[in-house]
Amino acid sequence: MAEAVSGFSKFNKEEKINWLAKTYFSQPEIAIQTLKQYWNEDQKLQQLHDEFIENTVSNFYLPMGIAPNFLINGKYYTVPMVIEESSVVAAAAKAAKFWSTRGGFKTTVVNSEKIGQVHFLYKGETAKLVKFFSEIKLKFFSATEHITKNMQKRGGGILDIELRNKTNELENYFQLHVTFETKDSMGANFINSCLEQFAATLKEEAQSYKDFTVEEKNITVVMSILSNYVPNCIVRAEVSCKVEELTEKKIENPVEFAEKFVQAVRIAEVETFRAVTHNKGIMNGIDAVVLATGNDFRAVEAGVHAYASRNGKYSSLSHAKIENGIFSFWMEIPLALGTVGGLTSLHPLVKIALEILEKPSAQELMQIVAATGLAQNFAALRSLTTTGIQEGHMKMHLNNILNQHQATAEERKTITSFFENNPITHASVVEMIESLRK
Ligand code: MEV
Repeated sequence: MAEAVSGFSKFNKEEKINWLAKTYFSQPEIAIQTLKQYWNEDQKLQQLHDEFIENTVSNFYLPMGIAPNFLINGKYYTVPMVIEESSVVAAAAKAAKFWSTRGGFKTTVVNSEKIGQVHFLYKGETAKLVKFFSEIKLKFFSATEHITKNMQKRGGGILDIELRNKTNELENYFQLHVTFETKDSMGANFINSCLEQFAATLKEEAQSYKDFTVEEKNITVVMSILSNYVPNCIVRAEVSCKVEELTEKKIENPVEFAEKFVQAVRIAEVETFRAVTHNKGIMNGIDAVVLATGNDFRAVEAGVHAYASRNGKYSSLSHAKIENGIFSFWMEIPLALGTVGGLTSLHPLVKIALEILEKPSAQELMQIVAATGLAQNFAALRSLTTTGIQEGHMKMHLNNILNQHQATAEERKTITSFFENNPITHASVVEMIESLRK
């Protein structure tokens, strides 16, 4: 069993890898070789990746794929996606193609406000705190001018600062609830810097506020941090067409298809177990583009799922209806994204991804990401309500099974052609590999 290691962060990269290999592997040389196999030959590039995080020992590859033919508001996009799940890019590409001949995706940014909060404790008369806040409110703006100057030039900045009384939920708990516009940056550093300055101003001003008692002067700032819940940073994506236009190879009866599809969405609206998987399908598309464009997928995930529960019950993010012979499928989701700052100018593949998207603004990226999420959801529901999910999924997964079993080129050819017309299961593929090897 491994023992605690001290001073690990001071080891150089080689020492860290040696320690790992010696501590956890029966064949340390092989472990070292595998870790190093993924290093980039270009030392400068490798150093860039090493420095993204602490204790880097290797690079972890994920495939970057592209889904072409996304027609969004009349413009064609080729969408870069980074994801490990076999069928996701194929599904996105198929849904994009399908909708490109039926009017494409219509998207709009509903609003783009970000939020941050200073959480603090104040023991005293609420009325005095309210008066104090209104008297010093402008100081919050002036004290952060050095931070907001550049953002203001780009049309962003602090939108409003509100004092919120949360003492019904927690004793002595108040907030500065602040809204921001951060234009093309995701804005995390900007928001957090502003908040930390607000906290300092709040404490400082309270100390010298003559109407406060000694206890009231001693405001305790618990923390200052942006919120990843952004219910006022919303993008809407929609597709629609006449029901009969839904006809294609796998949709022979469009009326039946549309009705079943709408039912599938309704089930996700009322049934949490289904809603989680339904939304996970949406996030397959969203996370893949968020990752490819160097954005923070954990922030997006946390915010989106909170939004899916905003009415007190976790529910579907997307909705569908048939009205006057028109099938419509849409969703509104919160997305706080950036196309400048962060990894966007650092990671060479992120730069490539943004160039493939023709250097979008943050608002344009929100729309592309939302369209990809909706496309992914459409593809999943189309399969689920027609052929079932396994047909397409296993077709894509076949290569993974062949790779697991180190199939030769000859074996691959035979097996792939056999399964073109036969249902693929893990067991049946393994059985065939074994029988070919007998
Ligand atoms: C798999 O990654 C995603 C699906 O389960 C989504 C869904 O069920 O809607 C296919």
